[in-house]
Amino acid sequence: MSHPSLRASTHPLVAHKLALLRAKTTEPKQFRELVRELTWLLGYEAMADLATRPHPIETPLEPMIGARMEPKVGLIPILRAGLGMVDAMLELVPAAEVWHIGLYRDERTLKPVEYYNKLPDAATVQVCLILDPMLATGGSSAATVDILKAWGAARIKQVSLIAAPEGVATLSAAHPDVDIHVAALDSHLNERGYIVPGLGDAGDRQFGTFAGPASEPGHGPDEATAEVVRRLQRDLEP
Ligand code: PRP
Ligand code: URA
Repeated sequence: MSHPSLRASTHPLVAHKLALLRAKTTEPKQFRELVRELTWLLGYEAMADLATRPHPIETPLEPMIGARMEPKVGLIPILRAGLGMVDAMLELVPAAEVWHIGLYRDERTLKPVEYYNKLPDAATVQVCLILDPMLATGGSSAATVDILKAWGAARIKQVSLIAAPEGVATLSAAHPDVDIHVAALDSHLNERGYIVPGLGDAGDRQFGTFAGPASEPGHGPDEATAEVVRRLQRDLEP
């Protein structure tokens, strides 16, 4: 699948770290470290086209014109799995503002449910980076872009570790102006809306919360949920 707004990394370090992340034997501690390292690499790629302005400095040898990043950057982690991507991005852009959005995906309908949003009345940043490891149906991401556009965000990029074709199609149909940066584009969604081959539940694997049904991507299927996924897959057909 190729899509104008999709940027899938081709960097060998990204491929190497992503394979470690996916492996089911990877424990939460290493999983969190890998999420952080992958975010650093993807953030570097996602911000490659941000504008700079000339900035005069003096080196110990002579004055010169250096560069300053022009736009004010906002990081928008989607709770809770996006939290693991924040620190790496802040290492890259220490002056970024962090605005959390709380969304969870209803397990049956696969629709996003908003539960936290403390955005002020008007946008305070020029470029928003939405941080969420998984772009599955695209519902959570498209809803977040709706929120950010209503806020007045001028430029929005999605940064995810793994995307499904269904999610890329949904997000880019709703918001063709949003660049989508990923470490990998996977094969498809299963009947429960999990990305295949994917990595399972990104929130549970980061935070060690393996007790609930959501942490078992293989179980099910619920017929209503499976129908949501089939509809998304029909939309993808040429
Ligand atoms: C996961 C993931 C995304 C969403 C992706 O969150 O972190 O936010 O699902 O799915 P979508 O593209 O189909 O909307 P989840 O709902 O599991 O919440 P959590 O981070 O609190 O575990
Ligand atoms: N959320 C996840 O954490 N993993 C998936 O595969 C889909 C949604």
